[in-house]
Amino acid sequence: MILRLLALALLTAPALADTPFDWGFSEGLTPVRTGREASGADCIGCHEDQAERWQHSRHRAAHDNPIYQSGLVDEPSPFCVHCHAPLPEQSAEVLANLRHYVARDPSRGLQPRPRLPEPLAAEGVNCVACHVRDGQILATNADTAEWAPHGITATPALSDGSLCEGCHDFHMPIFEGGSWILTDEIMQGTTSEWRAWRAAGGTERCVDCHMPAGDHAFRGAYDLDFVRGAVAVTRDGRTLTLTSTGVGHALPTGDLFRNLTVDARVDGRWSTVHRIGRTFEEVQDPLTLAWSKHEVADTSLQPGEPRAVALPESAARWRIRMHYGSDADEHRERLTDAELYADLWQGEL
Ligand code: HEC
Ligand code: HEC
Ligand code: HEC
Ligand code: HEC
Ligand code: HEC
Repeated sequence: MILRLLALALLTAPALADTPFDWGFSEGLTPVRTGREASGADCIGCHEDQAERWQHSRHRAAHDNPIYQSGLVDEPSPFCVHCHAPLPEQSAEVLANLRHYVARDPSRGLQPRPRLPEPLAAEGVNCVACHVRDGQILATNADTAEWAPHGITATPALSDGSLCEGCHDFHMPIFEGGSWILTDEIMQGTTSEWRAWRAAGGTERCVDCHMPAGDHAFRGAYDLDFVRGAVAVTRDGRTLTLTSTGVGHALPTGDLFRNLTVDARVDGRWSTVHRIGRTFEEVQDPLTLAWSKHEVADTSLQPGEPRAVALPESAARWRIRMHYGSDADEHRERLTDAELYADLWQGEL
């Protein structure tokens, strides 16, 4: 009997080793527990190189950037806070303030009432959110454990995409029966898109493109040179062709409002000729009266895909613009132009 149990244990051991690392994410339903205090301030003091780059990342700015703050005013929900200020102490700071986030007149911009300070939330997605679980400091390997002043738990999963998946792949929530539940509708599908690209022959991991040489700035859509380097734009007469050459997921991916437009200038006025991105409509459930968003179109550019766009005969100029917010955001004076969009390419005809 004991021998059979031993044999069983030996047989199941390799299977256990293959079990994916559990990062403890919940698609925004709960905060992320790490077993350690929330602030990354002491990590920053000793790891200056990573810290300096992280200071310039969207991860650092995940809670206090204006476009997210504007979204939180429209939808002041714990769901958002559990990813943008993900640790329990960070979320608690923001949740204590949530009722002060209400926009009394959405057309007149942000009008937050007095709030408590949010020093921990201001760290956004910090060192602890990615590098600490069960109170242990995680690194891809434990090579430096001998001289590090703290323990190191070798965790190759740090760079296999599963960590990113915890926040970069999730479903839409609805408030039903007194609590938040997830629907089948995808809100962000970056990791699924990337897995599909890998299955079709793509080779790079998220960290190969977004953390070259361990760069903690996580360059993305706000780094225009980074975007330009991954898309080929050619013009033949009045036909522009955009080809996604260096993106391992849809372009754009991520936030549901992110989109690119190809615009033409005719008679001194700019108008959009083609839009690249997802489109959603808001639907109200007749029984529960709950509102939810449904995807009605997806014109995102898939990896390797060329997209030809015909410009009007009378156009004098063209441009390709990255939009960070929604059309509604651009029609009210809450955010500045620089926060809302940036021009990637432009030319005369
Ligand atoms: C008192 C200084 C100090 C503090 C505080 C500290 N570290 Fe370290 N850490 C080190 C040193 C020294 C090493 C050894 C490798 C090196 O020299 O970079 C190390 C190693 C590491 C490694 C592995 C590096 C590698 O190249 O293998 C990681 C990851 C890490 N620390 C993350 C953190 C995080 C996250 C925190 C905060 C929760 C933190 N450290 C706090 C000094 C510190
Ligand atoms: C499961 C994690 C998660 C939840 C929940 C979540 N977000 Fe995000 N959010 C992200 C990630 C990851 C990105 C980065 C993707 C990108 O830049 O397109 C992001 C990007 C954004 C952006 C774009 C920011 C920018 O810099 O352009 C806005 C605005 C935003 N989220 C608002 C919200 C609001 C409002 C909610 C709640 C209704 C919410 N998010 C819920 C993970 C989450
Ligand atoms: C969004 C998640 C994320 C955040 C935030 C983050 N890191 Fe990292 N860090 C990683 C990943 C992933 C790697 C491994 C990179 C690779 O494989 O090339 C890494 C690598 C490292 C390493 C080298 C050791 C190793 O595992 O390769 C150190 C040291 C480190 N991070 C420290 C920090 C410090 C200090 C902070 C805060 C200032 C921080 N990190 C913030 C994800 C993160
Ligand atoms: C704890 C949640 C969390 C984890 C884990 C996480 N991210 Fe993020 N990430 C975010 C949020 C939230 C934002 C958007 C911040 C904003 O602009 O509001 C973001 C922004 C980014 C951006 C910049 C997007 C842009 O629009 O320019 C990149 C690139 C990125 N993450 C890559 C990664 C990669 C690669 C990993 C895994 C190594 C990872 N992230 C892990 C939450 C996370
Ligand atoms: C082959 C390189 C490559 C790989 C692999 C890759 N990315 Fe990207 N990613 C890019 C480039 C280039 C951009 C800038 C173009 C753009 O805005 O989509 C980008 C943009 C982003 C953005 C900003 C949203 C947007 O599209 O505007 C996020 C968030 C992001 N990546 C997360 C990830 C995550 C998470 C993974 C892994 C699951 C990953 N990326 C894998 C190259 C890559």
